[in-house]
Amino acid sequence: MTVSPLEGARLRLRALARGDAPALASFANEPRVRSTALLPGPVTVEQEEDFVLRVRASTVDAVFGIELRDGPRLVGVAGLHGIDRTSRAAQFGIFLGVPSLWNQGYGTEATRLTLRQAFERLQLHRVWLHVFSENPGGIRCYEKVGFAREGLLREAVFHEGRYHDLVVMALLRQDWAGAAPAK
Ligand SMILES: CC(C)(COP(=O)(O)OP(=O)(O)OC[C@H]1O[C@@H](n2cnc3c(N)ncnc32)[C@H](O)[C@@H]1OP(=O)(O)O)[C@@H](O)C(=O)NCCC(=O)NCCS
Repeated sequence: MTVSPLEGARLRLRALARGDAPALASFANEPRVRSTALLPGPVTVEQEEDFVLRVRASTVDAVFGIELRDGPRLVGVAGLHGIDRTSRAAQFGIFLGVPSLWNQGYGTEATRLTLRQAFERLQLHRVWLHVFSENPGGIRCYEKVGFAREGLLREAVFHEGRYHDLVVMALLRQDWAGAAPAK
C-alpha cells in the first residue's frame, strides 16, 4: 500500500522505490543479516525490484525504507504484513542491512515509528512478530518498545542447515505507550 513518511529523532521512514533495489539486494545478501532476519537468499536486484512493486501494490502490506535523517541513505526496511482488517492485526518485520549500525537504538526507533503506522494510521488492535530465539538483540529491541513474549514455536524454521525455535511476541493497542488514552 502507499505509505506516507514518518520522522523520528534520527530516522526517516518512507515508501520504498524501485531504485532501492540494488541496496535491498546487498542487504539481503549480507550473511549476518540473513542469519537472523529469516530472509530467503541469495536474491538478485530484479527480485528486489519485484518485491518493491509487489509491496507498493499490496493492500495488506505497509512497508517502509529506513533512512538516516542526516543523509538520505537507505539502511533497512520495516513493515507490517498480512494486515487483517477483521481482526485488526498485522505481522511486524524489520531488518537493518548495515551491521555496523546495530545496537545503537536505530531498530528501536524504527519499530516505534512503524507502530505509529499500525496504531495511529491503520487503527490496528494487535501487532505480532516471530523472532529467532537466538536473536537476543532483536528480542530486547522489541521488549523495549512494549512487545510481550507470548510463546515459543519449537524448531519451527529450517534455516542454514538446522531447525530454529521462534519466539512469538505481540503488542496490543492498549499496551502501546504511544496510544491515545482510552476513551
Ligand atoms: C534486530 C534489529 C532490527 C535490532 O536493531 P538494533 O538497532 O540493533 O536494536 P537496538 O539497538 O534498538 O536494540 C537492541 C538491544 O539489544 C541489546 N543486545 C544486543 N545484543 C544482545 C545480546 N547478545 N544479549 C542481550 N542484549 C543484546 C542491545 O544492547 C540493545 O539494548 P539496549 O538499548 O538496552 O542496550 C537489528 O539488529 C537487525 O536488523 N538485525 C538483523 C536482522 C534481524 O535480526 N531482524 C529481525 C528479525 S525478527
